[in-house]
Amino acid sequence: MAAESPLLTFVAAMTRLVESGPADEARLLDGARPLMKALVAQDDWLPDAMAAAHPQYYQQHLLYGDPLDRFSLVSFVWGPGQKTPVHDHTVWGIIGMLRGAECAQRYTRDHQGRVTACGAEETLRPGDIDVVSPTLGDIHVVRNGLEDQVSISIHLYGGNIGRIARHVFVPETDTVKDFVSGYSNTLSPNLWARQAA
Ligand code: FE2
Repeated sequence: MAAESPLLTFVAAMTRLVESGPADEARLLDGARPLMKALVAQDDWLPDAMAAAHPQYYQQHLLYGDPLDRFSLVSFVWGPGQKTPVHDHTVWGIIGMLRGAECAQRYTRDHQGRVTACGAEETLRPGDIDVVSPTLGDIHVVRNGLEDQVSISIHLYGGNIGRIARHVFVPETDTVKDFVSGYSNTLSPNLWARQAA
């Protein structure tokens, strides 16, 4: 006996969600949050290739990209000591912690374009969920919360995040750079791979 992959279950449910009404951020966040919660409730479905760390750079493995760019699902794999620059997303995103720990520090941007840290750094542990969006707060820096282990979080975005033009901020010099992240992988997972029940 074999069970459907949680990844296929998630992608099917997300596709139904985007098909079922307008591309309204609040509606999609409400609908997608419980789907992400269910996806990261168990850690037995992520293919090893999508959990692979790089010795130097954090990895962004595309797990699934909606053909109409309405959403994308990515595994972020943090090696020890790895962190992002301060960055934005320009679309809504839901982060579900799968393995290890991840620390996130939020930033705000004033009307002159300067970014400053706000609030305390938050730590996500397996099963925890976080949300970013242009309306709820879109700028942060993220790092592996563990010094000696790989950590993995699953990110869902309201667009094809690897192809979206967004920004990296350097608070020390008040500079902003455009960037497009791309993806680390060249092959994507087989959603129909069967799991042993
Ligand atoms: Fe981010």
